Amino acid sequence: MQYQPDRIFAIELDKTDPLASYRSRFYIPKQPNGEDVIYFAGNSLGLQPKTVREYVEQELKDWETLAVEGHMHAKNPWLPYHEFLTEQTAKIVGANPNEVVNMNALTVNLHLMMVSFYRPNANRNKILIEAKAFPSDHYAVQSQIRFHGFDPNTSLVEMNPREGETIIRIEDIEEYLENEGDSIALVMFAGVNYYTGQAFEMERITNAAHEKGCFAGFDLAHAAGNLIMNLHDWNVDFAVWCTYKYLNGGPGAIAGCFVHEKHVTDDSIPKFLGWWGGDKKTRFLMEHKFKPIPTVESWQLSNSPILQLASLKASLDIFDEAGMKALREKSEKLTGYLEYLIKQRNSGLIEIITPKDKSQRGCQLSLRTKAEGKKLYQKLIDSGVVCDWREPDVIRIAPVPLYNTFSDVYNFVEILFR
Ligand SMILES: Cc1ncc(COP(=O)(O)O)c(C=O)c1O
Repeated sequence: MQYQPDRIFAIELDKTDPLASYRSRFYIPKQPNGEDVIYFAGNSLGLQPKTVREYVEQELKDWETLAVEGHMHAKNPWLPYHEFLTEQTAKIVGANPNEVVNMNALTVNLHLMMVSFYRPNANRNKILIEAKAFPSDHYAVQSQIRFHGFDPNTSLVEMNPREGETIIRIEDIEEYLENEGDSIALVMFAGVNYYTGQAFEMERITNAAHEKGCFAGFDLAHAAGNLIMNLHDWNVDFAVWCTYKYLNGGPGAIAGCFVHEKHVTDDSIPKFLGWWGGDKKTRFLMEHKFKPIPTVESWQLSNSPILQLASLKASLDIFDEAGMKALREKSEKLTGYLEYLIKQRNSGLIEIITPKDKSQRGCQLSLRTKAEGKKLYQKLIDSGVVCDWREPDVIRIAPVPLYNTFSDVYNFVEILFR
């Protein structure tokens, strides 16, 4: 796409944007002067769809009037409520419906997945993760290694970028696995690194891991609702994600989980059990014979938090309507436009550390600040931009195709270089 540097061009792009009307389906926070903020923090917490209230109120109403009967007789019965989100969730990550479930929170699901897919022995006990993984992932992995009686100092391997580089090269991951894969039990990468915004090539990582007999799992916190993914076809073993970022499920929203269908009925895989993972027909006989649901639902422990599912459902309905393909097309344009405008104006104030190649990034650009550092971030905040600062020197900017405009991007760059 040929971008142009003037404001008229941004206005034209907004006018011809086929997804433009979706912005009005979200609440946009206001500045003290009454104008909309420029919200570029959808990679941290997505905005509230205006329909959330209605979805949640329906469940409050049914709880009010039906109480326990709501499990069977609510407008959307609570017993199978999580199933109402399955197809849409499967589309978001490129899975079959029997491979996805919404449950728990991200780090909880990561632990549950490691119970099943990190089964170390004396020869193969390492976990390979990307350097600078999100702290919670790092702690989860460290604690699993210790739990199995191994030492994170030797069993936790971090894949670093080359000296002087910020982005981890796929060929380095492949080469490492080729040479060392026999000692690795699990390869666990982010879909998109939270700090650099690098999108990892999940299919190639999975293939390289499988070549050496390792499991491959992904944390899709920054990828779900952002990238087009085909977890099933890529043969990924498991994935986990939160839904409060690009998926707009609300603060602390319920998380997602994927297990490849080749594993879902494999009884030899150890897992932690709870009654909600057991056969739906016999669950209420209250016997102590666990018969797993023959889908990823067998990893469920507890009955589902309906209010959280309702809130997420409101957003998934919007995703379904807009479609990931169209969203991704706009996202590439929007982030490409941000990159273009910054490069046009750049006076050495900022370095974009996110890959230039759009197949290696999602919405987010990570801007490494040079001289001005946090002062620059403060200027943005004071001027009505909502974004975040990540130590030591990065401002993360995530234009989101569902509700951000090309004018948001233009206005942001004007403020940045003012
Ligand atoms: C990449 C990544 N992993 C893990 C987490 C932790 O998620 P939770 O607190 O939902 O377990 C986050 C939260 O922002 C994240 O960005």
